[in-house]
Amino acid sequence: MPEFQKKTVHIKDPAKVEEIICGLIKGGAAKLQVITDFDMTLSRFSHNGKRCPTCHNVIDNCKYVSDECRKKLHELKEKYYAIEIAPELTIQEKYPYMIEWYTKSHALLIEQRFQQDKLEEVIRDSDIMLKEGYETFFDKLNEHTVPVFIFSAGLGDVLEEAIRQSGVYYPNVKVISNFMDFDENVDLAILGGYLFVQSIEKGAKHACAGAVAEDQKRMSWNEDGRRCSGPETPIQPDQQWDRPWDTSGGLSAALQNAVDKPLIPGVIKGFKGELIHVYNKHGDALRRTEYFSHLKENSNIVLLGDSLGDLVMADGVSVENILKIGFLNDKDLEIDSDPTSTSKTDSLNKFPTDLNGQSAIRAHDAVVFQIDESLEKYMDLYDIVLVKDETLDVANSILQKIL
Ligand code: TMP
Ligand code: MG
Repeated sequence: MPEFQKKTVHIKDPAKVEEIICGLIKGGAAKLQVITDFDMTLSRFSHNGKRCPTCHNVIDNCKYVSDECRKKLHELKEKYYAIEIAPELTIQEKYPYMIEWYTKSHALLIEQRFQQDKLEEVIRDSDIMLKEGYETFFDKLNEHTVPVFIFSAGLGDVLEEAIRQSGVYYPNVKVISNFMDFDENVDLAILGGYLFVQSIEKGAKHACAGAVAEDQKRMSWNEDGRRCSGPETPIQPDQQWDRPWDTSGGLSAALQNAVDKPLIPGVIKGFKGELIHVYNKHGDALRRTEYFSHLKENSNIVLLGDSLGDLVMADGVSVENILKIGFLNDKDLEIDSDPTSTSKTDSLNKFPTDLNGQSAIRAHDAVVFQIDESLEKYMDLYDIVLVKDETLDVANSILQKIL
C-alpha cells in the first residue's frame, strides 16, 4: 500500500502487521469494528503550524468563559499536559495527576455556568478540526455498517457537535465520554396575575431557585421571554419566587405563548457518570459492557489512539485480530518557538526522574529527547506509529482493503 511508504509511518514488526491486516481482510465488514480515541486522533493536533484545540480547549477559549478562568485553565493544562505525555513517568505515576487535573478543570467549567444553548456556536467558532480524510473514513464505515466506538477523555458534548457539524455523525457511531449535566430548562407560567416559575420536572424549580439565590434579586423578563434586569428587590434563597405582573399587556401574551418552551437555557451543573480521564479508559465497566455485549461477533478490531492510555480501550472486548494505530504528535509545537525558552523545561524539571538528571537541558533538547524516547515506546506498543500525521490516510487505505 503506497500510504505505508510515507515518512510518517513507523512499524517495528512489518510481518506481524501484514498478518493482522490479512486477518482483518479475511473477516471483512461483518467481523470488523473500530475503537477510537477522539482528541488528537480523530481531531487534528495542528493545522498550518498552529496547535488545534482539544474538546476542553474549545470551551476554555470561548467567549463565555471569563479571562480569569481561562488563565487558570491554561495554567492547569501547562502543568498537567506535560505530565500526561512525559515518557519518564509510568501510567501509575501519572494517574493521580490526571484525576487532579480533570477535577480542577471541570470544577472551573461548572463555576462558569456554561449554557447548553451556546455549544453549537462555540464549536462553530472554534478551530477544532477532524483529520484530513475524515469523510472517507466515516462514510465508508457507515456504508458497511461497521460499528465505530469513540472513547474519549475529552468532552462528549463538544466532540458530538464537532462530528455533527462535519456531517459525519452517522448511526453506526457511539460515543462514550464526559458529558456535561445541564440544569433542566424551566418554563414560565402566568397564573392569576402572578408570574412565577413552574417546574415540569422535579429539580427544575431548584435550579431556578439557585439562579435567583445567586444574585439575590428578583427576575424580570422581556418580550421574548429572556431574562433582563428588573426590579432589584433582594430576596432570600429559599423565598418563594413570584411577583405581581400585568397580565393584560403584550408582554404577558408573549410570555403566554412561550409557556412550554424552554425559557431559561440549561446551565452546566456537573458531569454525568464516571469520570473518564486519559489513563482510565479500561474503566467505566458498565457502559462499555452494555455496548460491547452486542458486538461479540465483531472480533476484528482497528484501534486508533494518540496516548498510551488509549491502548487499553479494547480491554475486555472479544478479540480475534487487533491492529493498533498510534498517532505520535508533534510535541515541538507544545513549547514556545524560542528554543531557549525555559517554560517546558521548568515543568519537566518538576518530575521526580528529572530527565535522568539532565536538569540544565535546554527546552528544545528536552523535547527532542522526549520524542525519540516516545517513538521507541510507541513502536513497542502500537503496531503502526504515525509521527506528525494529520491525516487518516493509513487507516483509510487499510479499510479500503477490508471493505
Ligand atoms: P481524548 O481521550 O479524546 O484524547 O481527550 C483527552 C485530552 O483532553 C487529553 O489530551 C487531555 C485533554 N484535556 C485538556 O485539553 N484540557 C483539560 O482541561 C482536560 C481535563 C483535558
Ligand atoms: Mg487523544
